[in-house]
Amino acid sequence: MEVPFFCYSHVFTQYREEALAALLKAADRGAYILQDEVREFENAVQGFTGARHVVGVANGTDGLALALRAAGVGAGDEVIMASHTYVATAAAVHFNRATPILVECGEDHLIDVVSAAAVITPRTRAIVPTQLNGRTCDMAALMALAEARGLIVIEDVAQALGSKFRGQCAGTFGLAGMISLYPAKLLGCLGDGGLVMTNDDAMAEKLRLLRDHGRNEEGEVVAWGVNSRLDTVQAAVLLAKFKHYPGEIERRRAIARRYRDRLAGLDDLKLPPGPDDGGHFDVYQNYEVEAGCRDALRAHLSEHGVGTIIQWGGKPVHKLSGLGFEDISLPRTEAIFERCFLLPMNTSLTDEEVDYICDMIRKFYAKN
Ligand SMILES: Cc1ncc(COP(=O)(O)O)c(C=O)c1O
Repeated sequence: MEVPFFCYSHVFTQYREEALAALLKAADRGAYILQDEVREFENAVQGFTGARHVVGVANGTDGLALALRAAGVGAGDEVIMASHTYVATAAAVHFNRATPILVECGEDHLIDVVSAAAVITPRTRAIVPTQLNGRTCDMAALMALAEARGLIVIEDVAQALGSKFRGQCAGTFGLAGMISLYPAKLLGCLGDGGLVMTNDDAMAEKLRLLRDHGRNEEGEVVAWGVNSRLDTVQAAVLLAKFKHYPGEIERRRAIARRYRDRLAGLDDLKLPPGPDDGGHFDVYQNYEVEAGCRDALRAHLSEHGVGTIIQWGGKPVHKLSGLGFEDISLPRTEAIFERCFLLPMNTSLTDEEVDYICDMIRKFYAKN
């Protein structure tokens, strides 16, 4: 059996007819820039997450950069984040002329609040927790720290649309939260796209101006801005897909349960937390496991047709060259990166494929 890690065109076939009909409807009308579908999609995500405002942007990285800018983060400011994140989280800070301060992650691979507290200085302005792998971090502890130290929180929810902590959706805890709509994400479009959620009216207004050359609803330029709009045809496709989103999340959670049941009791293999572990509602963008004999296990899976990857090309942000983090050491994160990798997790996976992957893993451990 062949189980690729992810197959874009395979996922597309799941909603091809609906997506193409929606795309053609917008295109035939000549609706391309900030037309009705964008507002309708923003409203749909608003209803789903409970955010007061949702603003469509060109991609998640821009969404985070614009949110930081709208919050006034700039030159001389420090912004704390976990090193186990995509380089985009740090880049959004860098391109606002602020400095990303990288810290350790905890057992669940999300930002470690104690490590974050330890690096706060008078220059610290914000914390950007990455809600990694479809899980929201302990936002009670993180918000308590931010409030006590007067820091802004902007969530990187690129991987966690609809995940919750104590019943509240990721992206709605801090001043703003960014969602990525990149094709391989939980809710992916046919190219790049992103959203920013906020409960703050002034922040929403600034974001709407910033994404569209500083133009207000009348088209008048009233501030500096950039071109970072969510395309109308992408919004049309996303609206068509979004109807299926709650079901897709349930499917991912069912796959996570199946992995958990079938891989229990293997001492060398550390599984991610269960779907409803301790107040978290996880939506499983990824299924990130840890294994002591990772490289041999991955090679065995590959020989048996199962695709796996290590996130971010195998390196946390502080280990990427050329970014200026050469002097930083984060032993816990580095130890995790000796062991972690992703098993397939997407809505086109069948139960038979999950069982096959688990059987192949058990076969490996039976021999090793
Ligand atoms: C954690 C994280 N942050 C930021 C991004 C950037 O989002 P985008 O590719 O939409 O710019 C991604 C995904 O690519 C991500 O996984």
